Amino acid sequence: MSYPELLPWYDINRREFPFRGTKDPYAVWISEIMLQQTRTESVVKFYTRFLSRFPDIVSLAEAAEQDVLKYWEGLGYYSRARNLHKAARLILTEYGGAFPDSYDRIRRLPGIGEYTAAAVSSIAFGLAYPAVDGNLTRVLSRLHGVRDDTNIPSVKRHIRDLAMQNIDTRRPGDWNQALMDLGATLCLPAVPACGTCPLKNRCSAFAEGDADLLPVRSSAKPPVPVAVGVGIVTCRNRVLLLQRNKSLLHGLWTFILCEGDSRQEGMIQTLSDLGFSGSACLYLEDARHVFTHRIWNMKLYHIPLPEAYPCQEGIWADKSQLESLPMPSAMKKAHTLARALITEKGDASC
Ligand code: ADE
Repeated sequence: MSYPELLPWYDINRREFPFRGTKDPYAVWISEIMLQQTRTESVVKFYTRFLSRFPDIVSLAEAAEQDVLKYWEGLGYYSRARNLHKAARLILTEYGGAFPDSYDRIRRLPGIGEYTAAAVSSIAFGLAYPAVDGNLTRVLSRLHGVRDDTNIPSVKRHIRDLAMQNIDTRRPGDWNQALMDLGATLCLPAVPACGTCPLKNRCSAFAEGDADLLPVRSSAKPPVPVAVGVGIVTCRNRVLLLQRNKSLLHGLWTFILCEGDSRQEGMIQTLSDLGFSGSACLYLEDARHVFTHRIWNMKLYHIPLPEAYPCQEGIWADKSQLESLPMPSAMKKAHTLARALITEKGDASC
């Protein structure tokens, strides 16, 4: 244990969050899955709502996947919600509903990698596993003066070894969260507040004056732009929704999407493939959504139909279904427009 100033600092300066007040492995698991790709401030609201709807493993396992996705709506990375649901069912069948209490068993649950297994094991069960994410990598590379590219697997392993050697085995959960808090409040990426850091006297980067240059990281690939036509097909007070079966946004409901072609001609072809040929296709406006690996540059169209032709691939949703079915944030603008179209203009457009 080489950072004796860390836990006393944490005991005074720790950030308070609703998910910090419990060691219940189920609640810790839910919060750590939410925190995987989402900022702590945004997680708070979702966490509280999710836990009041699904307070334990049984309620989550017994829920419909659509219901779980609905409570995840707006958080993004929906495979996290599908994996949570799968894992809850597995815990019920394989472990009789008791959350597994060893690192290896936790690590084998769907949706759990090394980082989350370490976070849950240490916080809920007091097991000494370091939760090394981007934040901890930054703090540890500065402390120990790691100046090689931290995206290289051997450098990653080195950082993990350093964490393993220095973790406080008496309070591993607090040790992990103390480093997270240090990384989020003082050991910041661009402008680190070294002057007030409790570890500055044992920090290599502080001594060398290059904290702002660490960690060294080869740059990640930028997201690829994709043109996407979004068709809001309405008829009387209903709108056509399709359920995604592609891996991105799987299981969520969208308007008609034409990926790779946002031109009106592309949308007209897609509509014709769905059996809606000869319909008017009115351009509405542009919208944009950034995913990790893709940027959707969307053009939104309104397709008012005189009749709600049957459509095997989708459903004709009324206003309440439009509100209750899980839809991705990328559809937000189209969603707002659809709401207006099927309430105000619904009858007039048919
Ligand atoms: N990020 C991931 N897990 C966290 C936690 N337990 N506390 C604060 N930030 C986190």
